[in-house]
Formats: sequence, C-alpha cells, structure tokens
Amino acid sequence: MTAEYQVHGTVAVITLNNPPVNGLGLATRTAAVKGIQQALADDAVKAIVITGAGKAFSGGADIKEFNSPKALTEPSLHTLIATAESSTKPVVAAIHTVCMGGGLELSLGCHYRVAMPGAQIALPEVKLGLLPGAGGTQRLPRVLGLEMALNMIVSGTPVLSDKLAGTALFDQVFAADADLVSSAVAFAEKIADARPLPKVRDRKVDYPNHEAFLQFSRNTVKAMSGPFPAPLECVETVAASVTMKFEDGMKFERERFLHLIQTTESKALRHAFFAERVASKVPDVPADTPTRAIKQAAVIGAGTMGGGIAMNFLNAGIPVVMLETRQEALDKGLATIRKNYENTMKKGKLTQEKFDQRMALVSGTLAYEDIGQADIVVEAVFEDMGVKETVFRKLDEVMKPGAILASNTSTLDLNQIAGFTKRPQDVIGTHFFSPANVMKLLEIVRGAQTGKDVLATALALSKKLKKTGVVSGVCDGFIGNRMIEQYSRQAGFLLEEGALPEQVDKAVEKFGFAMGPFRMGDLAGNDIGWAIRKRRYVEKPEISYSKTADLLCEMGRFGQKTGAGWYDYKAGDRKAYPNEQVNAMIVQHSADIGVARRKISDQEIVERLVYSMVNEAAHILEEGIALRASDIDMVYLTGYGFPLFRGGPMFYADTVGLPNVLAAINKYAQGHQGGAWKPAPLLVKLAEEGKGFNS
Ligand SMILES: NC(=O)c1ccc[n+]([C@@H]2O[C@H](COP(=O)([O-])OP(=O)(O)OC[C@H]3O[C@@H](n4cnc5c(N)ncnc54)[C@H](O)[C@@H]3O)[C@@H](O)[C@H]2O)c1
Repeated sequence: MTAEYQVHGTVAVITLNNPPVNGLGLATRTAAVKGIQQALADDAVKAIVITGAGKAFSGGADIKEFNSPKALTEPSLHTLIATAESSTKPVVAAIHTVCMGGGLELSLGCHYRVAMPGAQIALPEVKLGLLPGAGGTQRLPRVLGLEMALNMIVSGTPVLSDKLAGTALFDQVFAADADLVSSAVAFAEKIADARPLPKVRDRKVDYPNHEAFLQFSRNTVKAMSGPFPAPLECVETVAASVTMKFEDGMKFERERFLHLIQTTESKALRHAFFAERVASKVPDVPADTPTRAIKQAAVIGAGTMGGGIAMNFLNAGIPVVMLETRQEALDKGLATIRKNYENTMKKGKLTQEKFDQRMALVSGTLAYEDIGQADIVVEAVFEDMGVKETVFRKLDEVMKPGAILASNTSTLDLNQIAGFTKRPQDVIGTHFFSPANVMKLLEIVRGAQTGKDVLATALALSKKLKKTGVVSGVCDGFIGNRMIEQYSRQAGFLLEEGALPEQVDKAVEKFGFAMGPFRMGDLAGNDIGWAIRKRRYVEKPEISYSKTADLLCEMGRFGQKTGAGWYDYKAGDRKAYPNEQVNAMIVQHSADIGVARRKISDQEIVERLVYSMVNEAAHILEEGIALRASDIDMVYLTGYGFPLFRGGPMFYADTVGLPNVLAAINKYAQGHQGGAWKPAPLLVKLAEEGKGFNS
C-alpha cells in the first residue's frame, strides 16, 4: 500500500505511505488520486486531508523512478496536483517533518495547508540542475512573494515551517505538541462548507517594480552559478509568475524544465547524486552485514594526516587518543588541531561550547598500552614499509580483539601490511585526502583478507564522518593516485614537447579543474613525487617519465613550502608567477633529448591529461579494483577537484563518446612518448559495442 484511506467523521484522510520519505512514485500517485476520487464519491465526506506516514509529508519525486518511464506514466504528478486542485470538496495538506520538491508542489495544489513547526520546506530541484517542474515556480511566489520564493527556488535550501508561519503558504502552523492529524481534521471540519475554494493559482504576485528586482537577481545569480544553467533558468521561470498569466507561466515552466533535463550539467549532477548513493553498496557485503561499534578511536602519527584524521573523529563526537614517538611531535600535532578549531571559531563557524567539547575528546600518548582499548586505530606514520611494519606488529600485540587496524597508506601494499599481524581480517585501508578534515573522499581499501564486517563498518564510519566512502582493491596508488600518475606523466611529456607550465595549468583550469597539475605540484610539494619516482626508477624501470620534474627538484624548487616551484610565490600571496629560469630549463631539456618544440593546442592538453586517466581507469575497472565506473567518478569529484558539471572522468568520457576517446588515444600513441598510450581492452570493447562506462 502506498497511500492509506480512512474516514474520520466527515473528513477523509489520505496518508501517503512510501518509505522512507513518501516519494511520489507511480503507485503512490495512483493511490492518492484514487483516494481523492473515493472521497468525492462519498456523500458523507465533506473535506479531504492529505498527509504523510512516518518521517515525512513527502520528500518529492521518487528517486527510484528517475530516468524511468514510470515518472511520466499517468497519473503524473501534474495530474495528481490537478485532481487535488479541481476537487469540489476542500483538500487540506497536513505537513510535517519534510515537505520538499514535488511534495511541496502537491501541497500548493491543495486548497489549504496546515503544518507542524520544524518541518523542512524546500524546492531543491536546482541541486540536480533542474527547476521545480510541477508548478512550484508559479505557485510558490503566489504564497510567499517574489523575493522569498526566488531565494528558496534558486538556492534549494530548506526553510523551517515555523519561519514561514504568517505567510499565505500556511493557513495554520500548530503548536509543537499538537497531534497533526486530529488538528488537521478539526481544521478541515471548520472550513468544510466555505466556498469558493481558495486556489493558489488565483492569487497575484504583488511586487511593485519587479523588473528592477528581477534584473538584480539575474545579475547576482549569473555571477554565482558558474557553468550551471539551472539557477538562472529558475530566475526566469519565477519571473514568469509575475509577468505571465498562470497557464502561460505553467507552460513556460514545463518548457524550461524539459530543456534543463537534457543538459549535460543536469545529467552530471544527477549522475553524481546516484553515484554517491551507490558507492556504499558492495555486492558481496549485503546491507544487513553486522558492523562493529566504533566508540573510541586512536591515531598513530600526529603529522599532517594524523591531525586531520583525528579531527574527523572529534567532529563526530568519537574520542581519540593520538600516539607519537616523541613528545615534541605529539605536542605539535595537538597544537595544530587546537589551532585549526580556533580558526574555525574565529570565522564564526564553531561555538566555544563545541570547541571545548571537541578538545575534551582528544588526548595524546607515547605508550601503546594507552590505545589498546580503541575500537579502531588509524595509522598515519611515514610512508615507509619498515616503519609500517614496526607499527602494525606492535598494534597486533596491544589492540583488543576485534579492534579494526586501519592504514592511511597512499601507495604501499595493504596485504603486506596485513601480513605483519595475526589478524589480517581486521586490517583495512582508510585513505584520507589532504586536508583530511576538509576533503570529502575516503578511499576504503579492501585487502585480500579484510573481513566483510570490517568493510561494512568502514563504510558506515565514512557516513558518520560525513565522507564519501569509495571501495578500492589493492594496487599501487589505489583508484585515485593510480590514475593521477598517468595525468602527471602526460603533463611532463607536454613540457618536453612544447608546452610551459602556465599553458598546461590554464587549459586544465579552463576545463574546470580547481587547479592544474603544476600549481597542484607546487601546493603538495614536488619532492613527494620526486621520492616516489626515485623508487620507481629502481622498481619499475620500464615506466618512462619526463625528467623535467627531477631537474626542478634539483634546483631546490619544491613548491610553495620553499617559496619556489614550477612558479615563484610571494609571501602572503598564493598567486603563481611564471619563472624564467624554470621555463628555460624546460626548453633546454627538450633540446637535450632532441625534441623539436611545437605549439600545442589547449584541446590536446586537456585530452591527453583526461584521457590518460580514463584509460587507466578502464584498466582499474577491468581488474575489479573499482566496483563500478561511477565509483571512479566519485573519487575524482570528491578527492581531486574534477569539475562537477562534467560528472567525473568516466561520465565525461561517456559524454564525449568512447569511440572518440579511443581515436584520440590511438592518435597520441603515434606521437612523442607514444608508448605511454596502450588502449585498455575494456575501453576498446565498449567503444566497439557502442556502449559507455556507465551504461
Ligand atoms: N600528506 C598527504 O597529502 C597524504 C595524503 C594521503 C595519505 N598520506 C599518507 O599518510 C601517511 C602520513 O603522511 P603525513 O603526510 O601525515 O606524514 P607526516 O610526516 O606529516 O606525519 C607522519 C607522523 O608520523 C610520526 N611517526 C613516524 N613514525 C612513527 C611511529 N613509528 N610511531 C608513531 N608515530 C610515528 C611522525 O613523527 C610524524 O609526526 C603516509 O602513509 C602518507 O603516505 C599522506
């Protein structure tokens, strides 16, 4: 059953019932329309109340129906709203907890709306690159006024029902201790005979001088919405509520909605929305897999990552003990955490009370005995197998049975690390990204022997820490860094062939990346990549790299931390200034290796950087390191600044068309350092079959 029908005296009560949030899927819509018809046919019924069971009035469209023909099957949401609005008996929406999107649009089609305080009221469609398509843009301004409705529709942000009491949106907001259904029924009895039935569509949006306000809104919204068309379309459709007759405004809304739903930007946002949800699902780890309780955490190493990782636990209210080798390092790590929170407090984003609470949850130690009772320990010591071995052997000795032993390693073999313990089933990788207290991504590395309950616990923990958890198998670099390595290699080869750092960075930034590879290198520290390459020269001599980055490091230019890298930096200024000596070094290097420099187009730069990642990702998928293409997109959207409006590298490749991607790769395979390009078999196969990674 997706909507229940009951009669209370002379009032019919239709209760939407489609957990978790009474999404208005086909079955729910059908049952609601039937309910209204049944009430109309019953002479004993004088009025109708529509409400929602459980935790919502209605969260809006049923996301399970997104992109499916069911969404358009009759009765559509439009039909349901029209059925309510044209009812000859008054219809009262009784709102509580959550009333969003199509749910709010349905309520706006009802003759009256009553609500509990504290209900979240929103039209969040803009967050998926859309606009409210079932009358929301025309009806909300008619009850809230132009300005408030426009703000809600353009931002998608929820507003609490009590804040909207006194507007024409609500006929009554009940007291917090009221019983919603009986209060709504009493309200319905009171208005049962009142005629004519009030309809939102008949109201006028009264806003003198609206053109000036609308123009101001267009300018502001345009400046803020970057590459996304939806916010401005929201302004235009809301504008129609003032400038057009209701029916014409509805037609205009429909037209703009159908336009937006076809845009790549909206498709990318919807892809990311679903990708995030599906990422926490692992086929052989069912949703009912037991998890272990995480009430106490420990972090080994109070350096850059350790401090940020600890803050995640503190933010979630989980006490943390930090362990270091030296008191000095421990003090420094704890002081950094305090400083970070103090800065947040200064910005007004953290109260003194919360600050005190968080700082009270963190302590430090030099003794392993003090962490033995933790439910999870996250190791974030130097990236060195010898050091990791010492730590994990010790953890195996001291940690209580059932504790999860997690490593933050970026490149080392997790299975080898697990092998240092007698409990490899308890060992897992939790790869945080820097700054760990800010970045959303958590790569969860599943070792060959990691227990299913341990994996399920890590996935649940990622949600608790407000991270996007993505599962990766064990390989060099896991999903994210393994792909970025190809991107970095191409960036180096481009320098050898004729590009300079500034051109490469600008091309990639124009594509939408937050930062190009060279500015990124300067920020992260060029010495880190240097150390990795030095190891690779020995371990994997078959992999070619441009030597330019090594030459840069030999000049002592490690990046922002030394005030100089690919670019120059000035104190107190993050701007990157091109450096003549560096550029001369690059040009000289081309001559030294006998490459005649040529002009390289921005398109080639972007294609080589992005497609090299896509090709590596196809290997990653084929090897089962990533479970699905959308997981790879999540890694790049949440951990590497890949432009959201392009939906992630795999979604982007699908948009371009895999045959086109493959053709470009084959072309580059004929060029300088062409050996770096070997089309992944999966890419070739999908391109031949006319499929995409996400199809
Ligand atoms: N920095 C990054 O951007 C980043 C991102 C993801 C993962 N990682 C990984 O996180 C780990 C830590 O990196 P980091 O950048 O925080 O390094 P860091 O050098 O800033 O911090 C390491 C800390 O570990 C301490 N330490 C060393 N040996 C120890 C031991 N035996 N017991 C206890 N403490 C010990 C050191 O005193 C130091 O404070 C590495 O495995 C690294 O690969 C780093």
